[in-house]
Amino acid sequence: MRKKIVAGNWKMNMDYNEGISLAKSINDELHSTPLSGKEVILCTPFIHLQGVSSLLSSKGLSSGAQNCNDHKSGAYTGEISATMIKSTGASYVIIGHSERRTIYKEDDSLLSSKTIEALRNELKVIFCCGEVLAEREQKIHFDVVKKQLESGIFGLTEEDFANIVIAYEPVWAIGTGVTATPDQAQEMHKYIRSLVEKRYGKECADDTTILYGGSCKASNANELFANPDVDGGLIGGASLVKDEFINIIKAL
Ligand code: 13P
Repeated sequence: MRKKIVAGNWKMNMDYNEGISLAKSINDELHSTPLSGKEVILCTPFIHLQGVSSLLSSKGLSSGAQNCNDHKSGAYTGEISATMIKSTGASYVIIGHSERRTIYKEDDSLLSSKTIEALRNELKVIFCCGEVLAEREQKIHFDVVKKQLESGIFGLTEEDFANIVIAYEPVWAIGTGVTATPDQAQEMHKYIRSLVEKRYGKECADDTTILYGGSCKASNANELFANPDVDGGLIGGASLVKDEFINIIKAL
């Protein structure tokens, strides 16, 4: 049975104290309303990771980073390795977010190397894919997502693939207030699951968690999560506001 997950991607927001305070309040809330088999992940900036990881005590609540370097260690000024992330107590890392692909020019081959390095350090990977608006308008969005998955993660062994969570984030929906309709999300998630099935078989496809991301908030989470192939969300802006984030978790 695949896991249902809500992950917050804090991006580059909040100073250290604000981040710790938000993580504490989410942790407290989830103590009083337990998650019952579901998982919540706080993907924080690097500097928050150790502090956040050490204060989380609610069952099913864990932390993750938003990026990692593809090398083990060495002369890479300003970079953070998967080993370092793991040593903070974090369990996850987001790889292939569209902001990394676009702003930092991370290509498929680099993202594949980062994924391998993360898995080697026993981090689970939230691997992002998604098309830009022009690609959807040209009706090549399925091809774009297929290529991202094939180059990024379909080279993995089945054993490694078990530690991948896929996040479908249509770029036109990220931070825009425009959400994919439940039908658009379901259509793409179903397609992604069919690709996983072709590559790894039905059992693996059934077990793969596929998250939706892009202007997901408390008011639309219910209808998105109601789809059979949408197993939760990767939440940006709405993960920075405690009550909003908690209501998204409740929708799950
Ligand atoms: P928003 O929820 O702010 O649209 O961001 C989505 C996202 O990029 C999560 O990784």
